[in-house]
Amino acid sequence: MSNRDSMQRYHENRAKMLAGGGVKRVEAQHKKGKLTARERLDLLLDKGSFVEQQPYITVRATEFGLANKKFLGDGVVSGTGKVNGQQIFLFSQDFTILGGSLGEMHAERIVEAQGLALKNGCPFVQINDSGGARIQEGTLSLNGYAKIFRANTLASGVVPQFSVILGPCAGGAVYSPAITDFILMVDGISNMYITGPDVIRVVTGEEISHDELGGAATHASISGNAHFRFTDEKSCLQFLRKLLSYLPANNLEMPPVVDGKDGPDRETPELEELLPEDPRRPYDIREFIAAICDRGSFLEVHADYAPNVVVGFARLHGRTVGIFANQPKFYAAALDINSSDKAARFIRFCDCFNVPIISLVDVPGFLPGVAQEHGGIIRHGAKMLYAIAEATVPKISLIIRKAYGGAFIAMSSKALGYDRTLALPTAEVAVMGAEGAVNIIYRKEVAAADDPEAMRQQKIDEFREQVMNPFIAAGYGLVDDVIEPKYARIELIRSLEMNIRKREDRPSKKHGNIPL
Ligand code: HXC
Repeated sequence: MSNRDSMQRYHENRAKMLAGGGVKRVEAQHKKGKLTARERLDLLLDKGSFVEQQPYITVRATEFGLANKKFLGDGVVSGTGKVNGQQIFLFSQDFTILGGSLGEMHAERIVEAQGLALKNGCPFVQINDSGGARIQEGTLSLNGYAKIFRANTLASGVVPQFSVILGPCAGGAVYSPAITDFILMVDGISNMYITGPDVIRVVTGEEISHDELGGAATHASISGNAHFRFTDEKSCLQFLRKLLSYLPANNLEMPPVVDGKDGPDRETPELEELLPEDPRRPYDIREFIAAICDRGSFLEVHADYAPNVVVGFARLHGRTVGIFANQPKFYAAALDINSSDKAARFIRFCDCFNVPIISLVDVPGFLPGVAQEHGGIIRHGAKMLYAIAEATVPKISLIIRKAYGGAFIAMSSKALGYDRTLALPTAEVAVMGAEGAVNIIYRKEVAAADDPEAMRQQKIDEFREQVMNPFIAAGYGLVDDVIEPKYARIELIRSLEMNIRKREDRPSKKHGNIPL
């Protein structure tokens, strides 16, 4: 073959490979309001940074007509590129080729990219848009999924992993995203479920649409499977660029420190206005977070799920921190099963990737109720305690108002592992609220009093004054300092800086056994 012929063959193959499933299928993809696999990469990556890996991979199986359906790339685009200058590895499934279905070689290509991400210590992004296991390839495709799940698991805690669901993701295919750290979904485009509406109708008789069963809103607010929800693909991929800018490439690196334009000496007098006089009245913890963190830096995770706890990434004088806060606006901030799971998972992510934790405490305890007890609140609440005790990153706590019972331990106890615990003058630290305490320990005295109600109130006031005020806990050294609200940001930054070089070892073990 002449040089000219080989060049021509090169160009033909390249054009075929870049064409995906062809013009008609690309049009069909666009008609559904979806971008193509390559358009998505363009939106995510720094311009011109994409280096494609194994673009000519193609199906080896020949059964059920596959011999005539050989597409270069086999329905997935993979490789590496940069986001804000940081190298990442990624794949993007191409729905225009056999519905993005996953066969043997499609899986091999994905596993290769996963391996490179792990070897190079770079974040991994997977864009899922697929009809699932390629039916024609049978067990070969199941074998491929198993390899992917294993690679996701081995990379867990070594490099951050993100799943962007931009199409169907059904059956066992959902377990790869579920193993990764964060799932992002888009309204009207993303779907995730183990069994679809048709199977459910036959098996249980329930009628439900694809979107109600496994759309973005469902997973962001009901199941908690999705961490972030968007209205369109572009804002989703732009957000992922921002999220990546908060995180290190791997577990051996520190998160990037940006030029903190918001000074470390900014006072926060607005917090005095925010906290109501009546300790039973709620306020929005998001306003508290906005005041103390670098302006506009808070990226909330799981914003619509278990809203009684608020978690997310923010910056304090340019350093990334993980915020773990109670939200008095929902269930008076009482912790329940879902909020415990949400917090524990977030804390563990922060610990994997060297993100210090800031807890903001205003919590009356765990939510009482038969459903909670029977649902396993003991096991779920224990996850949170375990996650904090196990974490070796700097852990700073600020008690705003209530810090009662086991919730005090989970959110602010130095004995559990917090490095520095601060309290506002409004803090109340105790085993339980004053009303509950008096009902138990002064029950007989109150019942025998001439005026039981007056007696009860007197005992409540005494308890609050003598037992709950933050200087009692500070006197035991359980609270390191009591600070004014206007110095909250300044003191948190100082606390972070004094602990940022922290080193803490753990006993050698294969791995712990977190109560799942
Ligand atoms: C092979 C597939 C496919 C699959 C879709 N296609 N899914 N080919 N294996 N799993 C093909 C279609 O035949 C079609 O090819 C093309 O992709 C586009 O699909 P459409 O159906 O035309 O698209 P749309 O109407 O948008 O519907 C998308 C869909 C639907 C909802 C995903 O295709 C669908 O229900 N597919 C099957 C989903 C499924 O049951 N997958 C197996 C899940 S079990 P032509 O040439 O006709 O245009 C699983 C187990 C994993 O994944 C276990 C891991 C442990």
